[in-house]
Amino acid sequence: MDYKFEAAKAISRILNNTLSTDEIAQYITPAPSAELGDMAFPCFRLAKELKKSPARIANDICTKLNEGLPDFISAVAATGGYLNIFLNRALFVGQTVSEVATRGKDYGRSELGQNRVTLVEYSSPNVAKHFHVGHLGTTIIGHALYNIFGFLGYKTIGLNYLGDWGTQFGKLITAFKKWGSREDIEATGIDGLTKIYVKFHDEADKDASLNGEARAWLLKMQNGDAEAMELWRWFLDLSVIEYQRVYKRLGIEFDSYRGESYYNEKMDAVVATLKEKNLLVESNGAMIVDLSEYKMPPCLILRSDGGTLYPSRDIAAALDRKQTYDFHKSLYVTGMDQTLHFEQWMKVVELMGEPWVKDMAHIPYGLVVFEEGKLSTRKGNVIKMEDLLDEAVAKTLSIIEQKNPDLPDKELVAEQVGLGAVIFNQLYSSRIKDVLFSWDRMLNFEGETGPYVQYTHARACSVLARAGTFAVPESEGNIAKNGFDASLISDEYSFEVAKAIGAFPAAIIEAAEKYEPFLISRSLIYISQAFNKFYHANTIICDDKNLRAARLSLTNVVRQTLKNGLALLGIESPIRM
Ligand code: ARG
Repeated sequence: MDYKFEAAKAISRILNNTLSTDEIAQYITPAPSAELGDMAFPCFRLAKELKKSPARIANDICTKLNEGLPDFISAVAATGGYLNIFLNRALFVGQTVSEVATRGKDYGRSELGQNRVTLVEYSSPNVAKHFHVGHLGTTIIGHALYNIFGFLGYKTIGLNYLGDWGTQFGKLITAFKKWGSREDIEATGIDGLTKIYVKFHDEADKDASLNGEARAWLLKMQNGDAEAMELWRWFLDLSVIEYQRVYKRLGIEFDSYRGESYYNEKMDAVVATLKEKNLLVESNGAMIVDLSEYKMPPCLILRSDGGTLYPSRDIAAALDRKQTYDFHKSLYVTGMDQTLHFEQWMKVVELMGEPWVKDMAHIPYGLVVFEEGKLSTRKGNVIKMEDLLDEAVAKTLSIIEQKNPDLPDKELVAEQVGLGAVIFNQLYSSRIKDVLFSWDRMLNFEGETGPYVQYTHARACSVLARAGTFAVPESEGNIAKNGFDASLISDEYSFEVAKAIGAFPAAIIEAAEKYEPFLISRSLIYISQAFNKFYHANTIICDDKNLRAARLSLTNVVRQTLKNGLALLGIESPIRM
């Protein structure tokens, strides 16, 4: 039942439809404090139309509603131009708990997306380089968006647009031919590639002819030279092995790994259209699209040697994806520093006359800022993702050793909680804000953190397990199906828990609309905080059988909702911690 909508319906009837139910529902907000009620309808907008003061209007609606209150409202009051609404708690708690219990792992899921195709391009590391923390944000935010859109009934497709083409490969091949050995690179992977790449730059500072050699190798790649391509392919395969180790740990799977190289091949159509539309101009031998009219630097399409560039490959990829997937939406999750790049090439697609340009969105995010000197893996500016995750897990394990040394499966739980801490930390503020990376803060089991939510989930599981009527996790929803008396859990604490749980589905929808997974993280924190207050205020496993069944039902739906929410963020929910 949609309480806001039902309340709007009742108000609209009293106002003789001066405002539609939908309009009224839009104005209704949560009341600012529990004393003032659960929902509030501001009457200010009606003053002109009804030629009465907002306070008068609120009073009038209040009086009329009181003549016959609907079941789900327990009381109404008028204060300073607002109509305040108090819900019938037993009814609200009962319906919310039943709904979660019935829907189980699907609580919050919907058909909103109608199976429309949504592409989520994320992670996209640069081949021959380590998967480093520079890709933490895109990987975690992108994965969450992928899950969220899927849960809302969109057909989501996860794309990993590997940075597998460009000038760096000419340098890498040159370096390998001069100083590399197969056995060494085979054994050391990206570490070995990084070493020879760094050496290339050191040596090229002294001997500029190396740059010429690198350009020659790049040209060979462009022309499909067998030796060049074999080496390139090998660098690619070596790199993807490391990336996939990280994805596996994070529970990420992509539907496609088509990188920049794939679209390098698809440039002819782009160039043809640009020519046809008179958009291509020459500049110092290169081909560009002039964007000065739009107050942007030109978009680079072809190098003077005919090679493709980062922006032109993006244009080719967009056209190809439209053809391949006929997407409803196509999202690109990258750091904020690429905003201009996306504005430029998307403008070119617009100038090419593609109407679906409006269906693409760049989803930028802020920087990860490290607490100075606090990261033991700190080496220059490049922190490898694997080292970072290992450190998170090691730190978590030592916390578990202190708090709960007898915990079974300690290593597994430490992996789940350590990664949970890193992921939740990335998803706890609006995307665009910088994320502070502080171990103490993100691993605090009592802070607004992943471990706190996971701990609350484990706490709910342990209560249910102790109650004995509940085998975790197989019998999801059993207790509620057995029935309970909701009037026994209509106290302030229980009601707050139910309200927080009831707000979860709307948080998911808003998270998708705004591309902001943090709205879900916040929702999980509210649920956890409300449940922990309830837990401390009440004996859940009490002697009164009915009371106990009701409290266990509430506990069970807390468990379920936290689990569903954590899964959307890409976080596991261990049953013991
Ligand atoms: N490989 C790029 C980088 O690491 C990110 C790719 C972003 N996606 C895109 N379509 N340009 O900076």
